[in-house]
Amino acid sequence: MAEFRAADWQTYRMEWKKPHDAVEPLENEIRVVDAALAGMLNAGLITGVDYDGEKFLAHRRAVRENFDIPWTAITPRMQRLLYAINAVHRPPVLVAVGIFCGNTFISNAGAAAGPGKCYDAERLVGIEIKPEEADRARRNVQSIDTEGRAEIVAADGMQWLKDFDGGIDLLYLDADGPKGKGKSIYMDLLEAALHALKPASLVIAHNSINSASDLADYLAFVRGENFASSINMFLDDQGIEVSRMP
Ligand SMILES: C[S@@+](CC[C@H](N)C(=O)[O-])C[C@H]1O[C@@H](n2cnc3c(N)ncnc32)[C@H](O)[C@@H]1O
Repeated sequence: MAEFRAADWQTYRMEWKKPHDAVEPLENEIRVVDAALAGMLNAGLITGVDYDGEKFLAHRRAVRENFDIPWTAITPRMQRLLYAINAVHRPPVLVAVGIFCGNTFISNAGAAAGPGKCYDAERLVGIEIKPEEADRARRNVQSIDTEGRAEIVAADGMQWLKDFDGGIDLLYLDADGPKGKGKSIYMDLLEAALHALKPASLVIAHNSINSASDLADYLAFVRGENFASSINMFLDDQGIEVSRMP
């Protein structure tokens, strides 16, 4: 099983209700994310590691100044890594499921919308099942995406994925299913999306560490023969599993 481990992933912690507070010096954050990208490159997940650090900081600043975020588990390290993966992979079509207030979505879509934009995407779709959270996410995203490149959909991601008749280049999973189901909903979401995943597309699953037991079937699937490669990123205590289609 491929993995990347930052030495301090267990002790690196943010306060979920203070998403903009610095957790470590910026140079540490950059060093850890650079090492994480190198690990992904070595494991064959991505084809490069270069992204524009100034554009990322412009993105971070815009989110800090404009977003209404009641809480988030997206750490500053993870925010940078998600932005960088998207800046390197440049998915024409990004679909994110379970986006809550939109912070988790814009951490991905910010590479193609708003002041951190570094490429032109065809579609950037964020899906949230709770209408009031989808409304908040839309307000948040529109506050920095002045060109209107991203779309927020209030819907059940499962049905949306089943019905989608286009191709997906990057699928980001962060949905927390109904009580009892929790993050084990990821396997169902992946099955609903398989028909749309393009060759060499990426699938990113948040909470690969703290929800690993709920995700056992999902993790076994993406680490098996169905995917070309898959890596667990121990950057913080939440983690992401990044998997690449053949
Ligand atoms: C735990 S939150 C994600 C928060 C994110 N990790 C962060 O730190 O900002 C999960 C979200 O998924 C949404 N959700 C649950 N099931 C869903 C589904 N089937 N389709 C779309 N969204 C869903 C929930 O309403 C919730 O807002």
